Amino acid sequence: MAHALLKGKKGIIFGALDERSIAWKTALRCYEEGAQLVLTNAPVALRMGEINKLSALCGNAPVIGADVTNMDDLRALFEKSMEHVGGKIDFVLHSIGMSLNVRKGKHYTEMNYEWNGKTLDISAMSLHRVLRTAWDLDAISEWGSVVALSYIAAQRVFPDYNEMADAKALLESVTRSFGYHYGVKRKVRVNTISQSPTPTPAGSGVKGFDGFLNYAEAMSPLGNAGSADCANYCVTLFSDLTRYVTMQNLFHDGGFSFTGVTQQVIDKMGTP
Ligand code: NAI
Repeated sequence: MAHALLKGKKGIIFGALDERSIAWKTALRCYEEGAQLVLTNAPVALRMGEINKLSALCGNAPVIGADVTNMDDLRALFEKSMEHVGGKIDFVLHSIGMSLNVRKGKHYTEMNYEWNGKTLDISAMSLHRVLRTAWDLDAISEWGSVVALSYIAAQRVFPDYNEMADAKALLESVTRSFGYHYGVKRKVRVNTISQSPTPTPAGSGVKGFDGFLNYAEAMSPLGNAGSADCANYCVTLFSDLTRYVTMQNLFHDGGFSFTGVTQQVIDKMGTP
């Protein structure tokens, strides 16, 4: 159900790869709530062509390619977006993650540091790059809102999450640090949503993902939060109803983060 929560707002959505992507679901919900959108992804992802389907579902939103590690791409993206919407941007979704060591099957203890540098750049420092570009162009309106997606491996160990755990810890730190400066300068809010394991293109790439998903389900009083609900949460953070929320890591995980154990898990352990 739509509530016109984003009526008149303009947003940039990074990271919609296909209809399983969190960014895909979020773009649809933002559009439904009245926002005008610009869609972006890495040029290589755009070649898959799926994002054009999303664009058609979002009022023919322009699709602009940008590698999030390339400052020229990011500048061009913000400039073209502002030109398209005829003013400043009100919200940005950073829904980006990629691990070279995971992709190439390297164990955490045997990490390739060159790949690790790229992982941290794509998955974490890219948020700094996006914010810096917007800052330099003064592209985000007062009380604007930037949300990035994180995971609880930033706080606790999930061995197969590998170097992405470090990337998420860095992402959450950039959120706090840049969030401070952008808050003081322009009242722009910056937050991360720490999402339940979700079956998406990136999520399914984590080793033992089904085990991950089932364990989290059994350990969450409400069960795992799905991508459609994550999209709803993003909408609230982009709306004017959450104007004083900034520099936070917000768990959207059905209670997983504060649960020590559930009866369901105890029952599964059996007796010695
Ligand atoms: P996804 O694979 O649909 O999204 C990742 C996106 O990052 C893709 O669209 C990809 O093209 C983009 N990307 C990769 N390298 C890029 C680059 N150089 N420049 C621009 N874009 C680039 O998967 P998902 O799961 O929707 O991921 C979105 C975010 O949610 C990620 O930050 C992920 O870590 C986070 N997240 C996902 C969870 C899950 O279980 N799926 C759980 C918690 C957080």
